[in-house]
Amino acid sequence: MNRKIEFADLKAQYGAYKDEIDEAVLKVMGSAQFIMGPEVAALEDSLARYAGVSKAVSLSSGTDALLVPLMALGVGPGDEVITTPFTFIATAEVVALTGAKPVFVDIDEKTYNIDPAKIGEKITARTKAIMPVSLYGQPADMDEINKIAGGIPVIEDACQSFGADYKGGKSCGLSLIGATSFFPSKPLGCYGDGGAVFTSDPELGARMESIRNHGQIQRYRHKYIGINGRLDAIQAAVLNVKMKHFDAELKRRAEIGARYTSLIKAGGADIVTPEIMPDRSSVYAQYSVRVKNREKVAAFLNEKGVPTAVHYPIPLHLQECYAYLGEGEGAYPVAEKVSGEIMSLPMSAFLTDPDMDYIVGCLNEAVEKAK
Ligand SMILES: Cc1ncc(COP(=O)(O)O)c(C=O)c1O
Repeated sequence: MNRKIEFADLKAQYGAYKDEIDEAVLKVMGSAQFIMGPEVAALEDSLARYAGVSKAVSLSSGTDALLVPLMALGVGPGDEVITTPFTFIATAEVVALTGAKPVFVDIDEKTYNIDPAKIGEKITARTKAIMPVSLYGQPADMDEINKIAGGIPVIEDACQSFGADYKGGKSCGLSLIGATSFFPSKPLGCYGDGGAVFTSDPELGARMESIRNHGQIQRYRHKYIGINGRLDAIQAAVLNVKMKHFDAELKRRAEIGARYTSLIKAGGADIVTPEIMPDRSSVYAQYSVRVKNREKVAAFLNEKGVPTAVHYPIPLHLQECYAYLGEGEGAYPVAEKVSGEIMSLPMSAFLTDPDMDYIVGCLNEAVEKAK
């Protein structure tokens, strides 16, 4: 019998916390304090404490959480920002939006994160920031990257990795600035768009807070060119409830990741499972495997009621919007190879063991059939 699996089971999650979430949202509605206010302040306090930094500034999306630090650092035309080509478009998009040039560095084939050994050769006098991405929920090699950066600001794109551990620290608190997303399907997601930046640099923190609100430092006094990047109070209320359950969810996500890997390995099919480095954890924003003949495998799984997704099918240097950078096929061979094989399986803290058994059974069959 076919099952019908959810890719990220947000309905099950809402069902589990419904009473608490409904009460929190209704309280905001009753208060009519929809912009900023106590829910946002409480969230920012708990986010900062969680990441081990002195300041968290909530924002209207993960994209804004990447843009605001670049604005705060004064990145603009003529500058370069080093990042990975194997990420969601937003990472390089914000660089281009400031007028700066995204400079790509290939990824490591094990972790799919930026390869620190290849960063040095791309640093120039114009490099104004380095933006590694902690892809799928596993922190990038932040210590090595901070070291290579010297004094160049490092912004961790932690849009997929809030909550992950790294050598005793937490993702978002591992470099000068961390940025995350609360997109609904993220490990910590709200009920719309949302994000946050993190820093322990008080000057930078204050500047990012101001830029988030039109560069205002006092009512109608604007020190910086800013944006309207505020997080809604209703979203903050949802996140305050979800924060209470976050560690329990991460524990379950880790169990699911480990169980997926052992089930897949036991099946013996030609499937590359994620490698998590021993000094860090993954929050498994995605559980992504590599398979040959991906399109056939995905079509078979879809027929069986198992949805899959590709994060990401086209590396950024091969996207039409970055053709102006003049980097064709072959420029970043590891990213190109991985983007042709990667496939994400259903993942949420509410995925059941029988569903996982079914998914892996179908996957093994699909890989055999697609040969
Ligand atoms: C790596 C990465 N960077 C940036 C973003 C942008 O976040 P948002 O969708 O909240 O704007 C995402 C979200 O999908 C992401 O995964």
